[in-house]
Amino acid sequence: MELDYLTLNDFDIRDKRILLRLDINSPLDPTTNRILDDSRIVAARPSLDALRDARIVVLAHQSRPGKEDFTSLQQHTDLLKTICSQRVRFVEDVIGPSAREAISETKRGEVLVLDNVRLCAEENLEDKGEKLAKTNLVSRLAPLFDLYVNDAFATAHRSQASMVGFPCVLPSAAGPLLEKELTALNRLLKEPERPSTYLLGGDKIEDKVPVIENILATGKADHVLVGGNVGKVFLKAGGQKFNEAEEEWLVDAANQIRKASDMLRKYGDRIVPPVDFGILANGKRLEVSTREIENAAGNAMDVGNKTSETFAHTIKESRTVVASGPMGVFEQAGFETGTRRVLEAMASSGAFTVIGGGHMAGYASILGIADRFSHVSTAGGAMLSLLSGEELPAIAALVEAAKRYRKTRMAS
Ligand code: 3PG
Ligand code: MG
Repeated sequence: MELDYLTLNDFDIRDKRILLRLDINSPLDPTTNRILDDSRIVAARPSLDALRDARIVVLAHQSRPGKEDFTSLQQHTDLLKTICSQRVRFVEDVIGPSAREAISETKRGEVLVLDNVRLCAEENLEDKGEKLAKTNLVSRLAPLFDLYVNDAFATAHRSQASMVGFPCVLPSAAGPLLEKELTALNRLLKEPERPSTYLLGGDKIEDKVPVIENILATGKADHVLVGGNVGKVFLKAGGQKFNEAEEEWLVDAANQIRKASDMLRKYGDRIVPPVDFGILANGKRLEVSTREIENAAGNAMDVGNKTSETFAHTIKESRTVVASGPMGVFEQAGFETGTRRVLEAMASSGAFTVIGGGHMAGYASILGIADRFSHVSTAGGAMLSLLSGEELPAIAALVEAAKRYRKTRMAS
């Protein structure tokens, strides 16, 4: 995608009223509802710094209606206070009179955080920007601002009012985090240094399969290493038999297995599934080969040692490495080995390395190696959509807004 959007460098932001869309959606502890990982909040710091001389109003979401972690943004605001130099306030409203009054009172050098934008029912629809620009959310808030800044890269795959509606009616710019993410990820899609290796694991198979299809069909990947449940789907597609517990969930993955077998037929030489597993047997980890897994009395919770050794070796030989999704249930002691080994191999390689998705990024920080990757994306789904070759609606909306802005400038 052509990166022809405007950035903060294109505007004089001093004293301006800025509507800043952030993604500070965070994992919450299910019992206490406290934020477990504040990395998306910390990642908002460059935007807040860059807009220090403006009046900032933050628009953001937490989870979605109906889910247990659908909460207000009070806690997020408290954490934002600790990472930026400005005075930060929260208002328990999004488009009502209290929000509008608080917005009008926001002074230069201050930050106001509006409540969870998904409290507005309209935000939970996905549609074209022009249509969403007519929602109450956009039509009530837009007149209160001079500029819309989108720095919510992790939500860029959602065509929702707060992402694509405002750019239709306000001058709009990409924020510094969004720019940084796109620069790193586009490097993977344009001219990756070779060999280029992709490591895909975890669940959400329906999100990973399109990535694998795209990077293989476009020739961007020399090696695709598959672990976690993604690995099992590819093994199954190649005729592997599993024990009863695994076969049970694989029935529901029939569609993805069909796609995987298609890919094996076309690009089999570039796809590397696991050759062994770490299984849980009598409370302990046991190594079993793919030959033995059919009769193994325990769930495959990690890739086996031989597999992680091969994966680490391929990573070391590569010049570009991208990873999304863990190799197994790394949260459980004894089953972190596969995920740890591949992350360590990436961290110690001289390649251009990118990790994305909450699990990999979170575990890399637990291991204390997060700063040894070329890029740690704040995104999960948005990064996978981009790597699948899809257009990200929020980026397309910024590009359209830039065209409109240039046209009006030329006419005036
Ligand atoms: C995410 O964490 O995936 C983004 O914040 C987008 O949230 P969503 O998947 O609920 O739309
Ligand atoms: Mg998501």
